[in-house]
Amino acid sequence: HALAPAALDALPAALLAVDDTGRIAWLDTHVAPSPDARRAAAAHHGWDVDDPLLRLVLPRPGQFLVPGLVDTHTHAPQFPNIASGGQYELLDWLSNVTFPREARFAHPAYARKTYAAVVDRIISLGTTTCCYYGTLHLEATKILADIVHHRGQRAFVGKCNMDRNCAPTYQEASAEESLAQTADLVDYIHSLPHPGPPASPRLVHPIITPRFALACTNTLLASLGHLAASHVSPLAIQTHVAENSAEVEFTKQLFPECLSYTHVYDAYGLLGPRTILAHGCLLGNHELELIKERGAGISHCPTSNFNLRSGIANVGKMLDMGIKVGLGTDVSGGFAPSILVAVRDASTASKIISFQKNTAAIARDASAPLPEELIPPPSIAPLPAAEFSEAHLSLATLLYLATLGGASLCSLEDTIGNFLPGKAFDALLVSVRPETGNPCVWWEDEDESKAVTADGLQSMLETFLFAGDDRNIDSVWVQGRLIGGTGQGN
Ligand code: GUN
Ligand code: FE
Repeated sequence: HALAPAALDALPAALLAVDDTGRIAWLDTHVAPSPDARRAAAAHHGWDVDDPLLRLVLPRPGQFLVPGLVDTHTHAPQFPNIASGGQYELLDWLSNVTFPREARFAHPAYARKTYAAVVDRIISLGTTTCCYYGTLHLEATKILADIVHHRGQRAFVGKCNMDRNCAPTYQEASAEESLAQTADLVDYIHSLPHPGPPASPRLVHPIITPRFALACTNTLLASLGHLAASHVSPLAIQTHVAENSAEVEFTKQLFPECLSYTHVYDAYGLLGPRTILAHGCLLGNHELELIKERGAGISHCPTSNFNLRSGIANVGKMLDMGIKVGLGTDVSGGFAPSILVAVRDASTASKIISFQKNTAAIARDASAPLPEELIPPPSIAPLPAAEFSEAHLSLATLLYLATLGGASLCSLEDTIGNFLPGKAFDALLVSVRPETGNPCVWWEDEDESKAVTADGLQSMLETFLFAGDDRNIDSVWVQGRLIGGTGQGN
C-alpha cells in the first residue's frame, strides 16, 4: 500500500484483521507464515484466529492484497459508446457522439439495464470507489445510485447540470429545474437505507455535477454553489476544467469577467476542498496556485487526454505543488474503464513530459534553435526543480495515484486508500498465478515454497499494474464486504 506520493510499503509478512463494521482493526507487519505465528499475533490483539466466525484469507504464492482502486472520474452513461468517436476533439465529440447517446437515458428501462452492466463491469476491474457522472436525467441517475448502493460499491453519484450550449434535445429547460432536480437527487441519495451493521458508514454520496462551465448559465452555477454550501457538511463537487483548447477559449468568451477558467468555478463558490476537477491539461500557473489555495484537486485522465488529443496534464508539477491528484478513466473520452489502463497512460504521459524536457535540453545544449514541437505550450510554465516533475512517475507514485491519491481527492483519505488501522477494508486480492488465464509473473516452474520478499511483492505489483486485467482480480472487498472478483484463487 501507499503511505504518501513517494512511499510504497511492501509487506511480505503482514497479517491484518477486519472487524464486523468492515474496518481494519489491526495490522501486524512481521508475522511468520505459520499457523502458530498467526495465532500468537492475533492473540496479542485479543483476537482468536480459530474463532469459527472468522474467515481467514491466506494469499497463495503469486497472490497479494492491494488497496481497492479509486476512479475519480467516469461517465456511466457513456459506456455504450466506448471506442466510438476517436476522430474528434472534445467539443465535436460531445455534439456528434456523446450528447445524442446520453439522451437515451430519458428511458428508465434503458438506464436500468445499462447501468447494472456498467457497475458490474467497473467492480470486476477492481474499482472500489467510483465518482460517477450520470446524465441530466433525474430518474436515470436515481437508478444509477440504487444500483451502486445495491452492489455495495463506494461511490459518488451526480446528475449533470447543463442548461446551455449543449443540444436542443439534450439540455435542461432552466436553471430552476436543474437546481430543483439536483436537490431532489441529493435528498434521495441521503435517504438510501443504511447498509450493514449500525456502525458502518454510508457508501454512496451525492455529488454536485455542473457538466462544465460553458454548459451552465451564471444563474445555475451560482445556485449550485449555494446548494453545495448549504448542507451541514458541504457537498462534494465534480466538474471538468481546462481540458481542450477550444473549450478553454469558449469559456473565456462566456466569462470575460473571470481571470481564468478555474476562476469561473471559484467565482461561483464551486472551488473548495471537496472539488474534483477533471483533466486540467491546460491549466496556467495562477490556476494551479488557486486550486492549491482552495484545497481542490485534479482527476488525471490520461487515457482520455490522449484519445481526444486534449493534451498532457503535468501531474508531477501538481504533486510538487502539493495539489491533490487522483486518476480517472473518463469513459468514454477514455476508451478503457480500468484504472490499470489509466495507470499505464499516466506513466506514459509522464515519460513523454520527461523525454520532451530532455530532448529540449539537448537541443539547447547544441545551440540549435528549439524545434517548434518541443516548445511547451505557453500555459504550461517552466517546471520547478523538484521531486516529481524531474522524472517520470515511479511505481510508488502510480500506486499512490490509483489508491490514496484518489482517496484524498474524494476527501476520503481518513477512510480508505491504504491499510492503516481504523480505515475501511477496501481491498483487492490480486493473483498473477497461471490459473487466472493471464499469468503475469508467477510461472509454473517457480518455487512455491520460497517465501515472498518485499522486492518480489513490488515486482508482482508492477506487473499487475502494467499487464494485469480483471482476470487477475480474485476478490474485491468494500468496507469488508466481498462484492466481486473472479474468486478462482481462494
Ligand atoms: N466536458 C464536458 N462534458 C464532457 C464529457 O462528457 N467528457 C469529457 N471528457 N469532457 C467533457
Ligand atoms: Fe469527463
